[in-house]
Amino acid sequence: MGKTLPPGWWRPSLMGPAESLLVLDFGSQYTQLIARRLRELGVYCEILPCTTPDGEIWERNPIGVVLSGGPESVYGDGAPAAPDGVLEPPVPVLGVCYGMQLLARESGGDVRPAPRRSYGPAELEHNGNGRLFRGVPERFRAWASHGDLVHALPEGFRRTAGTGQARIAAFENPGRRLYGVQFHPEVVHTEHGAEILRNFAFEVCGAGGGWTPRSHAERTIAAIRAQVGDGQVVCGASGGVDSTVTAMLVHRAIGDRLHCIFVDNGVLRKDEAERVRSSFEEGLGIPLQVVDAAERFLARLKGVRSPERKRKIIGREFIRVFEEASRDIPDVRFLAQGTLYPDVIESVSVKGPSAVIKSHHNVGGLPKRMRLELIEPLRELFKDEVRVLGRQLGAPEGLVNRHPFPGPGLAVRMLGAVEESGLDVLREADAILEEEIRSAGCYDDIWQAFVVLLPLRTVGVMGDARTYERVAVIRAVESRDGMTADWAALPHELLVRVSNRITGEVRGVNRVVLDITSKPPGTIEWE
Ligand code: XMP
Repeated sequence: MGKTLPPGWWRPSLMGPAESLLVLDFGSQYTQLIARRLRELGVYCEILPCTTPDGEIWERNPIGVVLSGGPESVYGDGAPAAPDGVLEPPVPVLGVCYGMQLLARESGGDVRPAPRRSYGPAELEHNGNGRLFRGVPERFRAWASHGDLVHALPEGFRRTAGTGQARIAAFENPGRRLYGVQFHPEVVHTEHGAEILRNFAFEVCGAGGGWTPRSHAERTIAAIRAQVGDGQVVCGASGGVDSTVTAMLVHRAIGDRLHCIFVDNGVLRKDEAERVRSSFEEGLGIPLQVVDAAERFLARLKGVRSPERKRKIIGREFIRVFEEASRDIPDVRFLAQGTLYPDVIESVSVKGPSAVIKSHHNVGGLPKRMRLELIEPLRELFKDEVRVLGRQLGAPEGLVNRHPFPGPGLAVRMLGAVEESGLDVLREADAILEEEIRSAGCYDDIWQAFVVLLPLRTVGVMGDARTYERVAVIRAVESRDGMTADWAALPHELLVRVSNRITGEVRGVNRVVLDITSKPPGTIEWE
């Protein structure tokens, strides 16, 4: 193996439940889906890089291990290997695609390039012998994505399913507790995929189930109490779902020893500070200190045109303001932060460092400077689990479903230099777009929708007079995670209303245009 984990990749958690499955990540784009599907079945599941040393895997006492797919060929140079103990495991191991091929090759089977690569749906037929296929119809559609195949079974293994392309599309060796499938049970395109994973978790590994984000939260609350003792905690609230649910959990654990700070940086949406204040104080009963630092931020942003400089300035100033505000809290020793599971599990197995497209502003710099101990109650949860949890804990729907809003706010939506009059124009136009999208009933179908203000003027005519005013861009995208996105085809009538209202009601805009760029090649924000 040779590779070691990067420092800080894993911090032991106080919060893990008694029963869990582990997924070892070999670099598949579906690795996170495997964990999410298993959690949906009620079994807590964590992801570790495939380079995790053997000892660390078993120390965590998993009831079973899944080896994910991956982009490499098991016979290629430098292809990731399975940790030693996985071939003679104390608990059942399921290999998916690359994972199955690893089990095959390392147990003495033959893995070779397939005559034809197979991507997409395949008709699968199982022979009734496989424990994974119990209760599953004999033939069904499975999602395949592989260029290699298991040609010959290792000794002691039996074939349990095949497709037209792959004679050995699934195998097992119950004596050695090894199972493999050459397709992706975790993707929705595989019929009965959830049943196959359920069979693995419950029938093969003997899971008891019952895990939910809510049950996780109960343990988390107890863990926070234990960690904090009688200490004080500070939390930066942004109005987004992550920091809100974080605050709710910490508040349940320690009540008003939690101090939430909301920084008005002057580049917020219309009425944002007041909206967040009232949802916290009146909606959730959590006191919120709103720090009006708009002037400070705007003074520092004056004349700055570069998107990256804007981000850096806002990030740095945020830290200063937050630090100053928390100095007034006596004896604060902890910082609560809404870090999510995908931020914790970066695949270290095959991916190299990716290029920095935009340096995202977050509060990561805070704990180091402030010497605060971190509390990250969402560290083990996926975004949709946080939403579910937020709802169950009684967060207002408006907060749970709110579109993401970037830390640098309107500063990266007002191209060129940020100035106050432009911000007012942008706020009004943006509020109209949001209002119309909500009343057309499309808000929840869209990942993000907002207005961008361009640093140029065009000629128009209004009431017989010539105008020379700004251009507003409508940007609306559909996306699952913000990594890739498609422009949203908003209904024609909605666009007509938004355009008429913006040009009619917002002083300073005489032209509205629509952005029809997906990501890639564009990014979601314009800066
Ligand atoms: P891009 O523009 O990179 O955006 O396609 C992807 C997602 O990230 C948000 N975004 C940011 N969020 N700080 C943030 O907290 C930032 O600097 C930042 N830049 C972009 C963007 O709104 C989208 O959801």
